[in-house]
Amino acid sequence: MSSTTSLDYNNASLNGTITVPGDKSISHRSVMFGSIAQGKTTISGFLLGEDCLSTIDCFRKLGVDIQVEGTNVTILSPGMDNWEEPKEVLYTGNSGTTTRLMLGILSGTTLHTIMTGDASIGRRPMRRVADPLRLMGAKIAGRENGQFTPLAVQGSKLKAIDYTMPVASAQVKSAILLAGLRAEGTTIVREKEVSRDHTERMLKQFGATIEVADGVVAFEGGQQLQATHVNVPGDISSAAFFLVAGAIVPGSEIVMENVGVNPTRAGILEVLEKMGADLSVALADETAAEPTATLTIRTSNLKATIIEGEIIPRLIDEIPIIALLATQAEGTTIIRDAEELKVKETDRITAVVTELQKLGADIEATEDGMIIHGPTKLHGARLKSYGDHRIGMMSAIAALISTSLIEIDDTECIAVSYPTFFEHVETLLNK
Ligand code: S3P
Repeated sequence: MSSTTSLDYNNASLNGTITVPGDKSISHRSVMFGSIAQGKTTISGFLLGEDCLSTIDCFRKLGVDIQVEGTNVTILSPGMDNWEEPKEVLYTGNSGTTTRLMLGILSGTTLHTIMTGDASIGRRPMRRVADPLRLMGAKIAGRENGQFTPLAVQGSKLKAIDYTMPVASAQVKSAILLAGLRAEGTTIVREKEVSRDHTERMLKQFGATIEVADGVVAFEGGQQLQATHVNVPGDISSAAFFLVAGAIVPGSEIVMENVGVNPTRAGILEVLEKMGADLSVALADETAAEPTATLTIRTSNLKATIIEGEIIPRLIDEIPIIALLATQAEGTTIIRDAEELKVKETDRITAVVTELQKLGADIEATEDGMIIHGPTKLHGARLKSYGDHRIGMMSAIAALISTSLIEIDDTECIAVSYPTFFEHVETLLNK
């Protein structure tokens, strides 16, 4: 049952302070690690987005007691070796992170489990995770020769592998490392381009020893995780929508506190600076497991840039909103080396280009990215979210600068990562 949202903001400026919700990647991992460790783990700043609630639901079905009170979560776990075999299918909803990381975790148990998700999950490639896990001895079956959900896992004894990643993917790296927890020997993952390192950081936080140097991660199997407290910082991927809004909506000034600025995630800050945005980054706590900062953005003139190579994995989820930013920048912005966009919640190259063209943007798709000529005035249109939260939010931010009404079909999907998104737009408009 999807509804249409009509947005007509008349170019009103955005002013004030917001606290963006907890980081999605870190929230998932906090529940996974807290469920693996025996004892009591507490989490603050947890993201109550649908994806993270899917992760909680899966672990409850494995017999882990998880209580949620506001954004605080308490986990009482019997420990991974004492989980129950679930009587039901584990439903991962729209969440690729849940599905792929769980595949790694479940492979090293003694349990039989079945996982499935929504229609989008049913199209996302799972062999990239299942293949290296099979090399470790995992028993995984799936639709179309193990490529897609539903996936069935028969937990088994695993052995460590030395694996060179064919694509930059934190989900694949994390699944292998999590399987490595119960594997015999030292699991090694080699990355050509560094992907987000939340798993490595959190393994340390839960008392594990892990070596990371020059794109090589080494992790000895058989380690026990120690229950602890996890403080989840604000999600830079959610902040990205308001960073761009603040940069392009005339007369705006937006402050966001406690935003995670882990360098493996913060590519958007570098892009904004290169494009001439008026951005200030005040680092708060550099010694925390995950560094945080207060970000302040003000409207400014922007110039085009080229986004390619090693920065791509560090801003992959921000590319839809960066494309909108580029429509307001002087010159030609080129985004390349980003073919991974085709296998996200939807094909984000096609979705971004199709929807921004409907608004009058001068944008074309390429095999591995897009080319955008700017600046162009955007007009109103009826847009689609493709059931993809980040496409829905990009369209809503476009409505802040469009000359007339933008309607968006199916904005419910925004709750996957940013349930309070429209409340935050209203807060900043009414300042
Ligand atoms: C994520 C990793 C990224 C990202 C996704 C979350 C994670 O995917 O796009 O939203 O939490 O590990 P890939 O690792 O597949 O690129």
